[in-house]
Amino acid sequence: MWESSLPLLRDPRSGERLELETSERLDGEVIEGALTCASSGARIPIRNGIPRFVKEDENYAENFGFEWDLFAEIQTDRLARHSLSTDRFFNQVSFSPGEMKGLRVLEAGCGGGRFSDVVLEAGAELFSFDLSNAVDKNRAIHTGHPRHHLFQASIFEPPFVPGSFDLVFCMGVLQHTPDPEAFFRQLIPFAKPGGELMIDVYSAHPKQSLHWKYALRPISKRLPHRMLLRGIEAVAPVLVPISRQVRRIPKLGKPLSRLIPIFVHDGFMGLIPREDEVRFAVLETFDALSPAYDRPRSLRTMRRWFRDAGFEEIHSFNVMNALNVARGRAPAR
Ligand SMILES: C[S@@+](CC[C@H](N)C(=O)[O-])C[C@H]1O[C@@H](n2cnc3c(N)ncnc32)[C@H](O)[C@@H]1O
Repeated sequence: MWESSLPLLRDPRSGERLELETSERLDGEVIEGALTCASSGARIPIRNGIPRFVKEDENYAENFGFEWDLFAEIQTDRLARHSLSTDRFFNQVSFSPGEMKGLRVLEAGCGGGRFSDVVLEAGAELFSFDLSNAVDKNRAIHTGHPRHHLFQASIFEPPFVPGSFDLVFCMGVLQHTPDPEAFFRQLIPFAKPGGELMIDVYSAHPKQSLHWKYALRPISKRLPHRMLLRGIEAVAPVLVPISRQVRRIPKLGKPLSRLIPIFVHDGFMGLIPREDEVRFAVLETFDALSPAYDRPRSLRTMRRWFRDAGFEEIHSFNVMNALNVARGRAPAR
């Protein structure tokens, strides 16, 4: 943790200032210690350089800690030498890469850090947080980065000063919370007046509700993570080539391939090295089958969330019937 982040932190329950106690520093960073709140008595431990606002029994997302520990690198453009995350990020925010430098950005649900990497590469100062231990993987990839501030915290109780960020974004996360609208609302105060809030949520398109993952999830989400992963790893090398062949059948290929229970992402074709396709399919399939919650929402619903919050310049669109994106500018308060 960089001490410079302290003025932007608050005890999420009382909204009061936090004080820093340091027991170990390395190259200027606080590695071990605590954040304390004099008025509420809260004590937030700092471990491995990360303030831990989440108690163990509040973390329903450890499947993601497990997932990102194994897979974060192949989704991080700079490490895997593709541009999937950069392209997606700049397709969804209103900013161009050249406009990011010097912005203060909040990333809600950062996982292993593929979008953290994009934002840091673009020159912004970044505050990232996630409910799960995925923050440790994110830190491993970005250790010592002078513009990166990482926290283990929940969207339900973000530990930041309201109105502090030029851009707040939350990608791939809200559908994995118990109540996407309630969790969206928790993010609203953190964009500055005129700042941007951008979210994406799985699409509630009727085609998606027929997806095989929804038939398997009642069982798969309860399996031990390692067992589920081993099962997917065993079938993926067989199912990925079958899915590819089936897709080549004129007209019927695409709908038929949707019956094969492995995630083979059309958008990735030709963009990732051929040898990584099976690994990507394992990741995407585990990502679909393991989360505790999978709660898609329609574009209409998401636009309503932004309207109800008084946002301006609301812009929304769908990506391949699978993902809904919405963003808006925070009103002057
Ligand atoms: C599919 S991953 C997406 C991670 C990252 N945004 C990305 O796109 O690579 C979903 C992430 O949401 C996190 N998450 C779920 N509920 C959360 C909450 N209440 N607060 C913060 N993060 C949460 C999970 O731990 C997980 O890392």
